[in-house]
Amino acid sequence: MKKSILILSFLIASNLLFAQKFENLALTPPMGWNSWNTFGTAINEQLIKDIADAFVKYGLKEAGYEYIVLDDGWMAKERDKNGNLLADPIKFPNGMKALADYIHQRGLKFGLYNCAGSSTCGGYPGSRGHEYQDALSYASWDVDFLKYDWCNTTKLNAEGAYTTMRDALKNAGRPIVFSICEWGDNEPWKWAKDVGHLWRVSGDIINCWDCEIGHGSWSSWGVWKIINMRSNIRKYAGPGHWNDLDMMEVGNGMTANEDRSHFAMWCMLASPLIMGNDLRSTSIETFKTLTNKEVISVNQDKLGIQGFRLSNIDNLEIWIKPLSNDEWAISFVNMKNEPHKLNFNWNDYEIGDDLNNFRMDTKKETYKIKDLFNHTNLGTTKNPLQTTIGIHDVLMIKLCK
Ligand code: GLA
Repeated sequence: MKKSILILSFLIASNLLFAQKFENLALTPPMGWNSWNTFGTAINEQLIKDIADAFVKYGLKEAGYEYIVLDDGWMAKERDKNGNLLADPIKFPNGMKALADYIHQRGLKFGLYNCAGSSTCGGYPGSRGHEYQDALSYASWDVDFLKYDWCNTTKLNAEGAYTTMRDALKNAGRPIVFSICEWGDNEPWKWAKDVGHLWRVSGDIINCWDCEIGHGSWSSWGVWKIINMRSNIRKYAGPGHWNDLDMMEVGNGMTANEDRSHFAMWCMLASPLIMGNDLRSTSIETFKTLTNKEVISVNQDKLGIQGFRLSNIDNLEIWIKPLSNDEWAISFVNMKNEPHKLNFNWNDYEIGDDLNNFRMDTKKETYKIKDLFNHTNLGTTKNPLQTTIGIHDVLMIKLCK
């Protein structure tokens, strides 16, 4: 009797000890690039090598971007005779390990995609029933990041399926950031803190400001549709576990103003910053947005607090994010189709974050104001903030004492 209790306690303890996600990863929102938004399944080895080179050449690596993630379409259509995943031999003739080496040699990290279902959304072999085997393949190829999708999962329980893959990754032993992509359908923010490091909160993004494009049973969502889709989930985000607003569409056809606002909002909301544009042919203006270190530092702030809306009166969105060292980021986004004359009187607002118990008392304290996109000083909170914000543009400021 005693012996069986002992064995049982050991099994429970070892399960608690070993079956957990890798800790100390993604302590700030992961930054990188993913192939899907621009290339779909039309990816290949040379393209990915060019992207890795672009990270270095255009200062993306220096700005903090790290992960290069191959989305759907990297695999051969069939597993090998032992059930192992294979890279598509035409698209990736040297296989995944060689590509991982190329990326690692440049000081970057390597990510792959698969799916909890029987096949991926694009019809390639899914991991269902092969989780431990696939995790061993990823570890042997030196993969650092796994995006795990949710197509063809009939009757699967999401928490169970993602937990199985988490355990498989842990078992394989190589620390891998685990990116949950079930589109928010099963409210992963409520259960995935100990399962993954980031979870999508919506269906797929599309390169428009505030549209919904229907495809029958599902829709693609514009930037503001995603921002407005979930309320009250900011409390679930923090170091090691992030609400993922999807790969960015910066540089994919919106106006430069809209791109800036989109980027600012992903930073305010502590979303992973995963670029989705063709880095081989990106404009200088887009690179300027994507590599703005002051804006990125708001996203990467070590407190990891997701920002929130202060107000959206008169088509002016005002969002706040508390930062470390008693600093704050504020973004004013002009939703109108005409320029907005801003006259923001600090004394008209009570600014605080009740969830984290932070307060910005502009009556007692004076804060200096820095414009993060234009790198200029805008005086202090003693005076009203007055400027003009262009159509769909953003004024993003940082306040410090
Ligand atoms: C789903 C995901 C996308 C992308 C595609 C690939 O739609 O949400 O981000 O990975 O699958 O097929």
